[in-house]
Amino acid sequence: MSNHIGIDLGTSTSGLAYLRPDGNPEIVPNADGERLTPSVVYFDGNEEIKLVGSAARDGGDPDRTVFGVKRRMDDPDFVVTIDGEKWTPTEISAIILAKLKRDCSAILGDFEDVVITVPANFNELARKATINAAKIAGLNVLRIVNEPTAAALYYAHSKKIYGKVLVYDLGGGTLDVTLVDVDSSSDSYRILLSEGARHLGGNHFDEEILDLYAEQYRTQKGGELYTNEMERRRALQSGEDAKKMLSKLQQVSGTVGNKDRGLARVELTRDLFEGAIKRLLTRTVMLVEQALEAVDLTPGDIDHVVLVGGSTRMPVVRRTLEDTFGFTAVSCGNVDECVALGAALFAKKAAKVAEVCNHGYGTLALVDDPETGKESLQNSVVIPKNTPLPCSISETYATSEDNETSIEVDITQGEDDDPRYVDIIGRITLQVPEGRPAGCKVKVSYSYDENQRVHARVKDEESGISKEIQIEYKGEGVLSEEEVERQAAYLKKLRIE
Ligand SMILES: Nc1ncnc2c1ncn2[C@@H]1O[C@H](COP(=O)(O)OP(=O)(O)OP(=O)(O)O)[C@@H](O)[C@H]1O
Ligand SMILES: [Mg+2]
Repeated sequence: MSNHIGIDLGTSTSGLAYLRPDGNPEIVPNADGERLTPSVVYFDGNEEIKLVGSAARDGGDPDRTVFGVKRRMDDPDFVVTIDGEKWTPTEISAIILAKLKRDCSAILGDFEDVVITVPANFNELARKATINAAKIAGLNVLRIVNEPTAAALYYAHSKKIYGKVLVYDLGGGTLDVTLVDVDSSSDSYRILLSEGARHLGGNHFDEEILDLYAEQYRTQKGGELYTNEMERRRALQSGEDAKKMLSKLQQVSGTVGNKDRGLARVELTRDLFEGAIKRLLTRTVMLVEQALEAVDLTPGDIDHVVLVGGSTRMPVVRRTLEDTFGFTAVSCGNVDECVALGAALFAKKAAKVAEVCNHGYGTLALVDDPETGKESLQNSVVIPKNTPLPCSISETYATSEDNETSIEVDITQGEDDDPRYVDIIGRITLQVPEGRPAGCKVKVSYSYDENQRVHARVKDEESGISKEIQIEYKGEGVLSEEEVERQAAYLKKLRIE
């Protein structure tokens, strides 16, 4: 059995790889013979069985088919209701992970320890939800690693790419841009920065095709291409198939339609499609430029651009990057597998990787505004975004009122000064002795662990009283520790195929 197993839990597809004794990573196919498993779960109404993968994706009732929960991992209020039962994104992800674990165990032997990848900009809640999903699936997460970091490891390993590397990862639902400094002599990886867009990926290109199809259908039939979810998903799937063909052909035609209004022949050229997604591609370039600017680099400073994610198979993506950098981006071919392959490498090489903090963390404090001379509540950043990890930073604040006996400290996630544009992810109240004047010192210390999870401690300097902040999320979509245990026991007995 291999000790180095990596899982890419993707928006559209998930994959598992292990490190062979010769040091090369390899994808382990699922029991259906596929190298990647569509991240789709089908809830059967009659039997206590959950289908995962292609069978689930291509199967029946859309009300029983769950897609793309990864996009909702950071939403504390999101649940899916099936047969009156509520399912959180964590539980649905757990079913996908359990399918991978069970199928791959047949080949690798039993295992629990894994590295799981997440988008670089996954927040604290989504990271915790991913760890919980793994727990429910009977897996033990050794480390969470950012997807582009894993991919960079794979490229360095397989393509011998060194220097300043820009990883451009355009998958189904997210875009991640990461800058890595790869040192060939020490085989070490220093992440300089990660930027991401949460809702920008292949799914959005499919939506554009759907609009083009709907327009052509309307012209021909004088009616709507779809009027319910089932019809919409079918047309969307045809659109995705056409998109993939357009990565190789200049023109495709197909048939779309529904029972009531009949079928229509639709045509799509590469030019038309590229025109429709131009706006989205421009956004990806802006993100690349923003990332370079943030670390004072220009395209000329970059040694290699590497392609990750299924959507980088599109010629227009490659062309757009070539226009920006003036050289051709490198592709390993298996762009949708390289994150899982890199995760298996990471399981062995974790110590060689230096990451940065992907969000800013701070606290709310009353700050004097030099212009107005008035105090206002602001977000005071303690750990700025892109601080090298591991890190531990303290900031000292002062109490603002006389006789303050309870000091309330909020922990925030976000970079903005304005409290309205940051998330409060934890709160702590410290009880301190009575009768003290304003201005007592309170030290807030944050540390950021290797899984990119934040820990915070507040200390009243005079009394020495201190407390660790528990980051707790509330909402229907968030599971408690007990619920995680209960679901883990339930999943053990569940048929997942
Ligand atoms: N040949 C192709 N041409 C165009 N798009 C493609 C091609 N092959 C795959 N895709 C698209 O790539 C996307 C899936 O990529 P990938 O499997 O890398 O994403 P993911 O890892 O599931 O998503 P994410 O990384 O956003 O979580 C889908 O939108 C799919 O349609
Ligand atoms: Mg991916």
